[in-house]
Amino acid sequence: MAGVIGAPVGHSKSPKLHGYWLKRYGIDGYYVPLEIAQADLAEALRMLPKLGFVGANVTIPHKESVLGLADIVTDRAALIGAANTLIFRPDGKLHADNTDGYGFVENLRSGAEWDPKAGPAVVLGAGGAARAVIASLLEVGVPEIRLANRTRARSDVLRAEFGTRISVSEWINAGDMMEGARTVVNTTSLGMVGQPELNVSLARLSAKAVVTDIVYTPLRTAFLERAAEVGCQTVDGLGMLLHQAVPGFERWFGTRPAVDDATRNHILSV
Ligand code: ATR
Repeated sequence: MAGVIGAPVGHSKSPKLHGYWLKRYGIDGYYVPLEIAQADLAEALRMLPKLGFVGANVTIPHKESVLGLADIVTDRAALIGAANTLIFRPDGKLHADNTDGYGFVENLRSGAEWDPKAGPAVVLGAGGAARAVIASLLEVGVPEIRLANRTRARSDVLRAEFGTRISVSEWINAGDMMEGARTVVNTTSLGMVGQPELNVSLARLSAKAVVTDIVYTPLRTAFLERAAEVGCQTVDGLGMLLHQAVPGFERWFGTRPAVDDATRNHILSV
């Protein structure tokens, strides 16, 4: 048994995704939403293994605070400063990992002909999602990251933490960073249903860039459509959500689940 811990947790697509995989692979298991308030988090993490849980995903607002409660924190979770995947080990130890960066990279690898080493990457935004994206881009060998965020101070913090391969621009000049870029990522919430569009200029972008968005409602954001008009390969954000769930499911239930059209279609169905 596994679940997703959050507050609120009703919006999470994880129960639908893991429930689909459990059924598809004929696994006798459950995956449930677990609405747990901040004040109850430590106690819940102690109780869940005793109730038969083998692990859990973690979502807002617990992704950061869960690190302080874990016995073992993977390097990538420590680097990102947040965890999204927990394993309740048989020896009683709580293991915390972050698979968001893995999901991001797998989505690009499977959705495009993408060579991260081909040239600079542009990252728009400097929130929680940007941390996972930046950590994984550096890990796969992107030579340079150009970062811009509406609130400049947040991008400066990321540069200070993640090091010299990162340069920071003002948000207003983000379009200038597109020159020569081979990977472009929107990690902001702009373009999501109900939010303003992401209006960063793509006039300097070359068709050689692979462009992706972490937004997946809508699946085809106006930003991706503009990049496609330039001639770029584009990859929507749904695959990141699906791929980040793979390592947890495999650890908890012993089967590596497929991220394919059937999985995508199931998640998109109401
Ligand atoms: P997440 O964990 O999903 O990254 P977040 O930490 O709230 O969420 O970050 C949201 C990102 O979207 C931030 O980079 C934010 O910019 P600020 O740091 O300036 O807040 C960006 N964002 C949200 N609304 C925006 C807007 N209207 N214009 C520009 N950037 C925006």
